[in-house]
Amino acid sequence: MPDIDLDVYLTADDLADGLRADARTGLTASPKWLPPKYFYDARGSELFEEITRLPEYYPTRAEREILSTRAGAIARITGAKTLIELGSGSSEKTRLLLDALREQGTLGSFVPLDVSAAALRAALGELRREYPDLHLHGIVADFVRHLEVLPETGTRLVAFLGGTIGNFTPAERAPFLSGLRGRLSPGEFLLLGADLVKDPAVLVPAYDDGAGVTAEFNRNVLHVLNRELDGDFNPDAFEHVALWDPTREWIEMRLRAQAPMRVHLKGLNLTVAFAAGEELRTEVSAKFRRDGLTAELAAAGFAVRDWWTDQPGRFALTLATAI
Ligand code: AVJ
Repeated sequence: MPDIDLDVYLTADDLADGLRADARTGLTASPKWLPPKYFYDARGSELFEEITRLPEYYPTRAEREILSTRAGAIARITGAKTLIELGSGSSEKTRLLLDALREQGTLGSFVPLDVSAAALRAALGELRREYPDLHLHGIVADFVRHLEVLPETGTRLVAFLGGTIGNFTPAERAPFLSGLRGRLSPGEFLLLGADLVKDPAVLVPAYDDGAGVTAEFNRNVLHVLNRELDGDFNPDAFEHVALWDPTREWIEMRLRAQAPMRVHLKGLNLTVAFAAGEELRTEVSAKFRRDGLTAELAAAGFAVRDWWTDQPGRFALTLATAI
């Protein structure tokens, strides 16, 4: 049975340093903001898994539908020897790709990359049982900072699923996509999951569900700050806000202070004042159109080979080649 390799490029200390710097920058900015990656501690990851099962949150089911219909074609077209997954989390949907590639007999190794060492170890343990013949190579890293660590063996297929590309602003997407292209050789592949622009009456409830799970997920970032930075946020004093920005075509999640407050973050030696009604932006989730995404990929040096959507056309999976 091949071994499991685990390379760590991002330690718990690095993550903590990043949070300190980002929290100071974002909470002293006007308007205030925080990067979405800090949602995903153990509780936040659980809440996200719960979100993926909500009736209002269609992206996960839509992407799974596309993957189950197209995994065979993806395996045939790419003939991938190495599957790399950026932001792999539990790699739940990725098994559809692993199964198709295994059936075809080309796949040698699977390389999940995630910022969470705990999530990666758990996923690798299960994958080891399910795919005993596959070489597993986990990488604990930040896909924004550590793309140079991707292994260089075999024809590679890089999967970036779930619509996580939407967490970047356009200004962040361009260098990310060019940077990724720079790590690949011509003819290698990117499989990109992207949520599509649609009626706000469908989009907004996906980020503001009736059961309040997304609200809890949003407030969880304040629990993370309290724990990691010795803070005294009262998460219940913040209201969950999800809104559609029709100009930028993204969903924004915010936390709105319901009363004036002063929050102390002892770990940063920082006091943050909120006015009543003041909002803290916690996430952007951009939605895409076929023409726009094709153009952005082309600008980065990728040619779209296939564009697949789920039946209702809510979500797209794009197979692009490095040119
Ligand atoms: C994991 C970034 C794709 O933007 O839809 C879900 C995160 N935020 N509900 C998304 C999320 C609120 C999700 N991504």
